[in-house]
Amino acid sequence: MNDATTNGRIGSDPFRPIAGRAQIVVTGRIPDSGLEILRASGEVWAWTEDEPIPTDVRDARLADADAAVTLLTDRVDHAFLAAAPKLRVVANVAVGYDNVDVAACNARGVAVTNTPGVLTDATADLTLALLLMVTRRLGEGERLIRSGTHWKWGMAMMLGTGVQGRRLGVVGLGAIGEAVATRARAFGMDIVYHNRSAVDRETERRLGATLVTLDELLATSDVVSLHCPSSEATHHLIDDAALASMRSDSFLINTARGPIVDEAALVEALTSGTIAGAALDVYENEPDVHPGLLGLDNVVMVPHLGSATVETRSAMADLAARNVVAILAGDEPLTPVGGR
Ligand code: DGY
Repeated sequence: MNDATTNGRIGSDPFRPIAGRAQIVVTGRIPDSGLEILRASGEVWAWTEDEPIPTDVRDARLADADAAVTLLTDRVDHAFLAAAPKLRVVANVAVGYDNVDVAACNARGVAVTNTPGVLTDATADLTLALLLMVTRRLGEGERLIRSGTHWKWGMAMMLGTGVQGRRLGVVGLGAIGEAVATRARAFGMDIVYHNRSAVDRETERRLGATLVTLDELLATSDVVSLHCPSSEATHHLIDDAALASMRSDSFLINTARGPIVDEAALVEALTSGTIAGAALDVYENEPDVHPGLLGLDNVVMVPHLGSATVETRSAMADLAARNVVAILAGDEPLTPVGGR
């Protein structure tokens, strides 16, 4: 951990609020462009370490805070809000906001914002990368080369599954699901989707996508890709029964949120051959990964990299900062979550 000259209000005494200027707390490292936008609105105190901010340090900062910029690793709950009596906005630097108790914020008149749109392409790109990795066994191939094992090309060596003409089942056809379907279509895949309600006709036509029940999607898709939010309603949406209803030659991709999948049930399904493989960017108890996954060759795993491009992370920070600026100026936020 660094001292207060690094983790502090840049260019001023890190411990003394400046009267009359809004106090903005940034709970984790964000790109400089976002900090620059925030500085136009108030005094910025930013935690600049990679490790999580200690709760006592955070709470001391929140005591004077008008605005908090948070990351998906923060829990914005009653304790967080109790430490921040002046808070007007929580700007979460993520499209997902399952880490924020929106109802508790709203009850205190604290606005919540997220960062939709700016990470759609990056997350969809990663989803397709994972889809191709798992269907073409690229993780296994890479591990083989890195292990130094002798190998030679052969007609039957490490055969994967082609995706052309296969069915992609998108669970949650929002912006990211749609961007994934667009890419998958370019790879020659057919699209079905499951949503609470149908998307507009033009989108369905452009994607060649058909709305089906979740049961039908699971039973008929070659690849199931999850793009729904994490909530009580979607907790363990993919459990042992859902996995059992999938085809034995099918694949599961999760770039949404870990708790949507029962990870223990997934280990069992991958081990017993209930499904052919899985590719994961997110985990039920992140950053922990179920130990049963670690030794399996038919799972590809990356560490929550969906939005991890330089351009996207800057755009996310900038959007979160612009939401703070708007609210502190008394304007409507650009991308609010829920009510106020
Ligand atoms: C999000 O924004 O919710 C993503 O998971 C971040 O990578």
